[in-house]
Amino acid sequence: MKRGGIDPALKRTFQQRLLRWYRTHGRDLPWRKTRDPYHILVSEVMLQQTQVDRVLGFYGKFVKKYSTVEELASARPRQVREAWDGLGYYARARNLHRTARQLTHGHGGQFPRTYEETHALPGVGRSTAGALLSFAFNIDTPILDTNVKRLISRLFVHRPSPTPAQTERRLWRLSTSLIPKGKAWAFNQALMDFGALVCTARNPRCVTCLFTDICRAYPKFIRASGQQRR
Ligand code: ADE
Repeated sequence: MKRGGIDPALKRTFQQRLLRWYRTHGRDLPWRKTRDPYHILVSEVMLQQTQVDRVLGFYGKFVKKYSTVEELASARPRQVREAWDGLGYYARARNLHRTARQLTHGHGGQFPRTYEETHALPGVGRSTAGALLSFAFNIDTPILDTNVKRLISRLFVHRPSPTPAQTERRLWRLSTSLIPKGKAWAFNQALMDFGALVCTARNPRCVTCLFTDICRAYPKFIRASGQQRR
């Protein structure tokens, strides 16, 4: 095993259990019913600093009003701002608009399929690039949003790295190596849902968790809560 890597059998166990869990417990969300990269980009940008429940009230209306990247590109900034009104963090809307214009005028409305080009789009950070490539094209690219960071740290990290930058690099390596080949779409959606629904920030639902036997943090949670081990 590579230093700091995950044992292959452990990795397979994690992948298989998580994908099985997702088949029955995954959330039915509108942006999961499409493979249109533009619609997926809109949803991922909205989800950057906003909870799913809130985004549900905006996503459908936005993609109805601007249903293609070209339509968004030709809108006036003030109209885009109005469609975003109530979601907050308006820099996201400005960047999304700039991205739509770049793609329409520079790329013939086509979305790039490489990580570097995707990450270079305005307002598209590393995790959003991973989400876009995996959810639109099923390209094996990692994500690392807050929920996924927490889940992977708890499950697989025994001791913290000396610096935050090293921790970050380590988590990206883990998130990359965990993806089962060719299954990034389902796997990344599943990571997000498991982090949001079971491995929650406060009061994680260890009682219903499928990973207590492999989780690095579980023994600590049990000691802290005075509960019995399962
Ligand atoms: N947060 C960011 N992207 C998400 C997605 N595709 N589903 C649920 N929550 C998310």
